This record gives sequence, C-alpha cells and structure tokens, in this order.
Amino acid sequence: MNPIATVPTVTLSDGAVLPQVGLGVWKIPDADAPAVVQAALEVGYRSIDTAAAYGNEEGVGAGLRASDVPREDVMVTTKVWNSEQGFDRTVAACRASLERLGLDYLDLYLIHWPAPAKNLYVETWRAMIELRADGLVRSIGVCNFEPSHLTRLVEETGVAPTVNQVELHPLLQQPALRAAHEARGVVTEAWSPLAQGGMLLRHPALVALAERRGVSVAQAILRWHVQLGNVVIPKSANPERIAQNIDIFGFELDEGEMAAIAELDADTRLGPHPDRFE
Ligand code: A2P
Repeated sequence: MNPIATVPTVTLSDGAVLPQVGLGVWKIPDADAPAVVQAALEVGYRSIDTAAAYGNEEGVGAGLRASDVPREDVMVTTKVWNSEQGFDRTVAACRASLERLGLDYLDLYLIHWPAPAKNLYVETWRAMIELRADGLVRSIGVCNFEPSHLTRLVEETGVAPTVNQVELHPLLQQPALRAAHEARGVVTEAWSPLAQGGMLLRHPALVALAERRGVSVAQAILRWHVQLGNVVIPKSANPERIAQNIDIFGFELDEGEMAAIAELDADTRLGPHPDRFE
C-alpha cells in the first residue's frame, strides 16, 4: 500500500503537507510504543502524534528507527508541556524532546495547552517561532486554543499557528472553533476523534449507519471527520484497529449520513476546558 497515494493530505499555511490520518499515542506506554509505531508505519501511517507529557517519546523514536520507512517520509509531532512554557524553557523542552526521540528535527511542534492563567503562551509562541527559524522544527502550531487565544498570538507576534489540535468528535463538534480556524487559515486537528472509544461507538444511529455501509462505527466516525476537512489522530494500541482506522478511503458518507452525525452534537467535553486547565 502506498500511503502517499492513498491517504489524502492537507497543506498547512507554511506549505508543509500533513496526512489527514495520523496515529495518536496518548496512553501508550513507552515500552509498547516501538511495536505500535512500527505496526502503524507498516499499514501506511506517515504521521505520528506524541507529546512530552505522554512519556513515550523514546519508544516512538525507537519505533521510527526500527522501521524501513525513511525519516523524511514521516511527519513527527510532539508538544511542549504546560510546566515548560516560557521562552527559555520551551527552547530547552524542544531540545529534550528531540533527544528523547533521537531526531534532529521535528516536523510539527505544538503548544500543548494555552494555560491562560500562566499568561506565558505568547512567550512560548515566540520560542516556537525561533525554533522554526533555527531549523529544529519545520512547522509550529498549538493545541486546545480558543479563538481569543489564537487572536492574541496573531496580534502580538504576527504569526498564526499552522494547526490547532482540539478535542473534537461527534459529541463535541466545535462549529464556532472550526469556523474561526477557517477564517485564519488554521488546520483543525481532532484529538480523541473517536470520543475515546466509549459509548459513542455503541450509539444506535451510528451502529445502523455503519452496518448499512459495511464498515465499523469507528471507520464511519473517522470518515465523517475527513469529509469535514479535519485531520484525525485516533489512538489505538491494537494492530487490527490501527489498520482499520486508516482504511477509510474506500467509501463516502452521503449528505444524509453527514447530517445524521451532525445531529449527535451534544457539546460534551471529555477533557478539561482549555480556559481552565493549567
Ligand atoms: P485500543 O487502543 O484498545 O484500540 P480516541 O482516539 O478517540 O481517544 O480513542 C481511543 C480509544 O478508542 C482507545 O481506547 C482505543 O482502544 C479505542 N479504539 C481505537 N480505534 C478503535 C476502533 N477502530 N474500534 C474500537 N475502538 C477503537
């Protein structure tokens, strides 16, 4: 399978190209990460999303090195944790992540949370801009930023993030935030795109839709995301589900099916609200 040919990509505002489906590795233990990353690369994933806070950057790096896939074919994302915000700490955090991953550059470096009570995210962003200028990272972005936080970054630095990675799934569809991204040329990346694999995967409307299509509920949900233009990073530690989650380009949801999923929006957040999380 040629992943470049089969997984659609989005082009970021800086010209970088990101596959619409990547592997999320939140909660995957460091010791398991090498095998999980290799399983994903084998079935065509070319984007891996980790974070310093996940404690598995070393395992992710080992998985990348153990694979035959050339380094330059994989988009590697990691994130600066809240405790490392501020200019100097962020520069040091990036170097520490590179060291743990065993890489000499990152494809995408993200601010993990705005942590607005710290009031450090603008300084952190200035460090990200410098890291990009120095070639340690190719693209820079944020996670969990609300429109007001995005506006402040642009007003104070003149540089918009390429992506904003936010909690987004059928129970939390974030229409206002997605519109704010569109207006600013920011790509929407969905974390927990499957709502963490809980009740949503047993929702009767989704079960019926998936049965009609001959796909799994997870595949139907991921297909809904990509048709909206979202980038998704479903987490799985299971090789079969890893393969299933990228195999979503052989069918298309029609307008009625997209509308049926749109109706499930319940403004239900599984993670913390970005304004209140430090
Ligand atoms: P597992 O790692 O055992 O596959 P999210 O990315 O929304 O946070 O969801 C991750 C959760 O969903 C994990 O618990 C993962 O479990 C589960 N999951 C991932 N892919 C699938 C799938 N295709 N079918 C069912 N559950 C899945």
